[in-house]
Amino acid sequence: MIARAIEWLDGKLRVLDQNRLPREQIFVDLDNYRDVVLAIKEMRVRGAPAIGVAAAYGIALGASGIETANKDEFLAQLNQVMQAFASSRPTAVNLFQAINRMKKAASGNDVTEIKNSLVNEARRIHQEEITATRQLSQLGAGLIMDGFTLLTHCNAGPLATAGYGTALGVIKAAKDQGKRVSVFATETRPLLQGARLTTWELMQEGIPVTLITDSMAGYFMQQRKIDCVIVGADRIAANGYTANKIGTYTLAVLANAHGIPFYVAAPTTTIDLSLTSGYQIPIEERSPGEVTHIQGLPIAPEGVRAANPAFDITPNQYISAIITEKGIIRKPYTEGLKRVGSRFV
Ligand code: MRU
Repeated sequence: MIARAIEWLDGKLRVLDQNRLPREQIFVDLDNYRDVVLAIKEMRVRGAPAIGVAAAYGIALGASGIETANKDEFLAQLNQVMQAFASSRPTAVNLFQAINRMKKAASGNDVTEIKNSLVNEARRIHQEEITATRQLSQLGAGLIMDGFTLLTHCNAGPLATAGYGTALGVIKAAKDQGKRVSVFATETRPLLQGARLTTWELMQEGIPVTLITDSMAGYFMQQRKIDCVIVGADRIAANGYTANKIGTYTLAVLANAHGIPFYVAAPTTTIDLSLTSGYQIPIEERSPGEVTHIQGLPIAPEGVRAANPAFDITPNQYISAIITEKGIIRKPYTEGLKRVGSRFV
């Protein structure tokens, strides 16, 4: 049983600090919305659906800390809380879907009623992610055959979703269906989510996993060791172009060159129908220090220039199917995504 990534406990948010994994399992209790914003920015909580859930609870927390009983004043301060979350990380659309839902839930006769309504909405958002990730995992498992070896990138398990997982959820569900599956996990530089988190989660699930560096993926595809690639997503545009952890595009092109299916698994909260093209998705640029250092240790000459885009865009022609809780979508993506997606932002 994997420790819960996010939990709402007596009016506080308890998060498992993902930066300390796998060395230590440290839970941090956050009773201030600014600390939740910081936890998202510093990636103690990470993964698109989990960021959305954490922000929802964080907004409820922020609301509970507003002291005025005047409704207009309260709503003005609540708006500032929401703005702080909106500027925490730009790529995962689940964050903005959650903020929008919290905005709509901010109604009631008085401030106390609104505060309660916000906590209830955050709980609902969390519960819906749990249900959606379970459902999409069940559906996606149908694409996995007995004996498959899958390659996955970054971390798209329970830690990243505050639920069952997306890419890893599909793999777990396939195992639960009695299929023998094994996984190649890419380490995922610069922040090593694959090495630190995916291997940790899969080992706890008893799913055989082999850790490889990012640059080994092509070698193993050429050796015919990979039956399919499965990844999560941070935002899927209306045309099916998908933002996910940097390096995903490279894997998709490689999979295509080797005739290997490439699947994207994501709840419908990751779909953004307001963007007609994936190239409109904002790509987070993080500190160059994450590239020049590994876990605080310098690995490059001091003062070297480094770039650090955190995500890339995979064009739809490289994606064999998008697995959501409302169905498995195939080309042409625009039609299928319109059926299941939403237009919150
Ligand atoms: O920067 P991160 O670690 O938040 O990026 C996470 C990913 O890219 C995941 O693959 C994505 O959010 C899908 S999580 C189910």
